[in-house]
Amino acid sequence: MAGRVLMVSGSKGGVGKSIVSMALTHYLLKQEEELLLIEADTANPDVGKAYGKSVKTLYMNLDEKEGWMDLTNHLSEHPEQTAVINTPARSGEGVKLYGTLLSESLRELDRELVTLWIINSQRDSLQLLREYLDGMQGGTTHVLRNLYHGPERKFELYNSSKIRETIETSGKTLNFPDVADRISDQLHSDRLTIEAVIENAPLGNRAEVNRWVKECATLFEQVTP
Ligand SMILES: Nc1ncnc2c1ncn2[C@@H]1O[C@H](COP(=O)(O)OP(=O)(O)O)[C@@H](O)[C@H]1O
Ligand SMILES: [Mg+2]
Repeated sequence: MAGRVLMVSGSKGGVGKSIVSMALTHYLLKQEEELLLIEADTANPDVGKAYGKSVKTLYMNLDEKEGWMDLTNHLSEHPEQTAVINTPARSGEGVKLYGTLLSESLRELDRELVTLWIINSQRDSLQLLREYLDGMQGGTTHVLRNLYHGPERKFELYNSSKIRETIETSGKTLNFPDVADRISDQLHSDRLTIEAVIENAPLGNRAEVNRWVKECATLFEQVTP
């Protein structure tokens, strides 16, 4: 079976794209899938820095048409790889111009495109999602409310929106769990993998990471069947 292409996006900075990409990479490694990480955040490649040594990682600039072409070429040459793509903030323009280059090629290759769209509770998260769906025109998009930004009810704008209905015609709305700051700091500042955090952590920290990893697994099972 051809590997899936999992795009982690949300356009805005600080919404949680990188931490979701790390959690997803950790989850897929456990599934022993042949994994490829595409680090497309050229300004802040934090996922590549944490996972570059343990997962095959390619750096690509998806602001440029060349980047989208390189990505599509690589995916067609390696059908067995499951790809996780960590996207930068403000990736909307690239998607608008070149998104269909990828989505149509994947359709031709019979490879599934799954987008995890991370939101906070603000309105522009939704506007950018609309633009993404219009630009990409393919695959399945799931929305992840990142609970780091508040409990589910704080996402009222999304919860009662039209775009939620659009998403749920083929995708899902799910909650991405919050993890203690001292753990996320180790991922972001110390450039550690989740595996390394678990290995080196004192018992209390380890219990917290394990809880979070388990909750993430329950979430990812629903979007990467
Ligand atoms: N679910 C979460 N649990 C703990 N910290 C989080 C969570 N989501 C985001 N953060 C923190 O918020 C900040 C921004 O997250 P990040 O993943 O870098 O966002 P992005 O890649 O979208 O810019 C980081 O310091 C990160 O650790
Ligand atoms: Mg990021």
